[in-house]
Formats: sequence, structure tokens, C-alpha cells
Amino acid sequence: MPFAHITGWGMYVPEPVLTNDDIAKLIDTNDEWIRDHTGIRERHIARENEFPSTLAVEASLKALEMANLAPTELDLIICSTSSPEFIFPATACIIQDQIGATKAGAFDLLAACSGFIFATNMAAQAIRSGSIKNALVIGSETLSRFVDWKDRNTCILFGDGAGAFVLQASDKPGGVLSAVMHSDGSGADSLTLLGGGSRHPATELTLHEGKHFVQMDGKAVFRFATRVMGRAVIEALEAIGMTTNDVQWIIPHQANFRIIETAAKYLKMPLDKFVINVEHYGNTSTASIPIATVEAAQKGQLKAGDKVVFVGFGAGLTWGAMVVEWTGPMPTKKHVRPEQYRLFARLRRFVRRAIRYIESFYSRKEV
Ligand SMILES: CC(C)(COP(=O)(O)OP(=O)(O)OC[C@H]1O[C@@H](n2cnc3c(N)ncnc32)[C@H](O)[C@@H]1OP(=O)(O)O)[C@@H](O)C(=O)NCCC(=O)NCCS
Repeated sequence: MPFAHITGWGMYVPEPVLTNDDIAKLIDTNDEWIRDHTGIRERHIARENEFPSTLAVEASLKALEMANLAPTELDLIICSTSSPEFIFPATACIIQDQIGATKAGAFDLLAACSGFIFATNMAAQAIRSGSIKNALVIGSETLSRFVDWKDRNTCILFGDGAGAFVLQASDKPGGVLSAVMHSDGSGADSLTLLGGGSRHPATELTLHEGKHFVQMDGKAVFRFATRVMGRAVIEALEAIGMTTNDVQWIIPHQANFRIIETAAKYLKMPLDKFVINVEHYGNTSTASIPIATVEAAQKGQLKAGDKVVFVGFGAGLTWGAMVVEWTGPMPTKKHVRPEQYRLFARLRRFVRRAIRYIESFYSRKEV
């Protein structure tokens, strides 16, 4: 049975930065309160012409370059997002087209902030089963579009960004070692975005009622998160006979510094074993784990052979953890430049649309 290794990683955040002081100009809050209660100082906010696919394409091309893998070699693309570009088509299909991943099947996965762990597990299982060789998993969010900038309970928390992993099959042991995924829909009302779906399609009333904004019972989410995080880590480790003593790094979902601190206490692990960057990005939802991973890798913190645990929680409610043996890029002689495939993808898109137009012209004539 092949193993599923993480061989490439990339991240992208939009340039504009919104500091706590900037938010304090919009609502009744201040930098000290936000830092004390969340650990967040600033977050990046997408420009008007940036969407989840825009951020995801940048992160994906970096991940593919790191893995030395051409987009045309991808078999599968999963985009985990809670702020999809549209209800359909899937954001993953837009990414597939823009990076020129001609043979990849692409779909979105919605498990809120736990989504990246769920998606990586799905891709890893597809590789482990032998049915595919190369997968791209992306977490991409522009939740700033769904935040009520008058609601001080939520608008201080979220930021935009994207992170991506390339997963590849190999006979060498390592890569994704175990994963646990959990859900409890009885807590669905703790964190919601109700408008625009088929229960509350967009109407003047839904807009008036603010149903197109994130709504959150902050205390309930806090209690839930602190309860499940540590337990999920232990469960994923126990599944492969490991303990926290075997772990070099925990990379948690970056929602709130205090939640991470509580998980560290539960696990009796020092905070310096946790990768934490919530201060500079806020909660980027499903993008937060890959963004934290990329930063840790760039700082040289992750070494080949390290046992790393990803752990996340979010709306649904959902939560999960994954144990990975860090490998790094596979040895290869070729040097792929995935960026060049963008041009090819643009040309391909133009040609395919032209063919579709010509086909529709002739089929009208036949009718
Ligand atoms: C949202 C959250 C930061 C609020 O922190 P908290 O310590 O629970 O704060 P509370 O809601 O108890 O509010 C405490 C006080 O601060 C006030 N307050 C709330 N938000 C404030 C803000 N942004 N600025 C200043 N004061 C604020 C409240 O009105 C309240 O005042 P009161 O005591 O006079 O009534 C915290 O509950 C949290 O992080 N929850 C988890 C959220 C999360 O992670 N969501 C994403 C999951 S993926």
C-alpha cells in the first residue's frame, strides 16, 4: 500500500493589512482588548479583485514548485473553503482551470475550520488506496466578505488567506500516519452563515436581517474548542501507538491564542512545541493550518522525520487531528516551473471556450 507524503507547500495572503487600531476606528473596541482576548494584532484582507481562487492559485503554484510537480500531473484537487466563490461551480474547478491541471478531478469540501484536515485526509486516503498518485489540497478563505464590520464579537477575529499542500504517493514509509474526523451537528447554531443557501435564499428580508453575515456564540465555541482539541490530538496519536512525547510539533488551527494555550495545558506540552502565528493573520479558517505549516517550514523548524500533529475545530460543529511524518520534497532531477503552466492554461481556456461557441452555433443551425 503506497504512503501519502506531503511533498510541497505554499501560502499566499493578500497584501492589505488591517490592524486592531484600524478596527478600533470602525467599532467600540481597542488593540489591548483584542490582544488580551484573542492574541490577534493584525490580519490580511483581500482586495476587491481577489477571491478564494485568486489566493488559492498563488498558494498552489508555490506548493507545486516546491514539489517539482507539473499541474498536468495532478489527479485530484480538493479545495476546502467556507467562503466559496459561488454555491456552484466549485472553487476547486476554477483553480483547476487557472493552474492548468488538465487531468485532475476537482471539488470543494466544506467542514469549516476543520476542513483542511478533512481534505488532506481524503486526499491521503485516495493515495493510500492506490487509486491516485498526486493530489493538491488547498484551504482558501475570504471570510472578510461575510463579516459584519459592525459586530465586534466577530469582525476582530477573521482574516483572509490561502495555503496548499501537494500530496504524493511513495513506497517509502511516512507522510500521513493517522487522522481522526468528528462532527456534532447538534451544535450547528453556534457558528453560522445562514443566508444565500436554499433554506434562506437571498431576499431583501434576509439582507435586512443580516443573514449573510457570520454569526457566532463566542463563548459556546470557546468552550467546545478547548474541550475537543487536546482529546483529538491524543486520539490521533493513540491510533498509531504514539504519545505526545513522540511529537516534535503541534500545528493547531489559529483561532485564538487562549484556546491554543488551554490545549497545551491539557496535553501537558510546552507552548514552544506549538506553531502559533495567529498574531499576524487572525483566524483564516481552513487556511490557517497550512499557512502556519508553511511559515514553520520556511523558518527551518520542520525537519525530515519530525512527527507533526495538525489539529482543528470549527463550525458544524467539526473537529479533527492528523499525525504526519514530515518528509519534504521528493528527490527529482527535473525542475518544474508551474508558473509557466498559467499561460498555457489561459490559452487552453480561450480555445475551449471558442470551440464551445462554434459548437453551439452549429447545433443551433441543425435545430
Ligand atoms: C469572541 C471572544 C474573543 C470573546 O471573548 P470573551 O472573553 O468571551 O468576551 P465576552 O463575550 O465574555 O465579553 C466580555 C466583555 O467584553 C465586551 N466585548 C466583546 N467584544 C469586544 C470587543 N471586540 N472589544 C471590546 N469589548 C468587547 C463584551 O461586551 C463584554 O462586556 P460586558 O462584560 O460589559 O458585558 C471569545 O469568546 C472567543 O474567542 N470565542 C471563540 C471564537 C472562535 O474561535 N471562533 C472561531 C472558531 S473556528
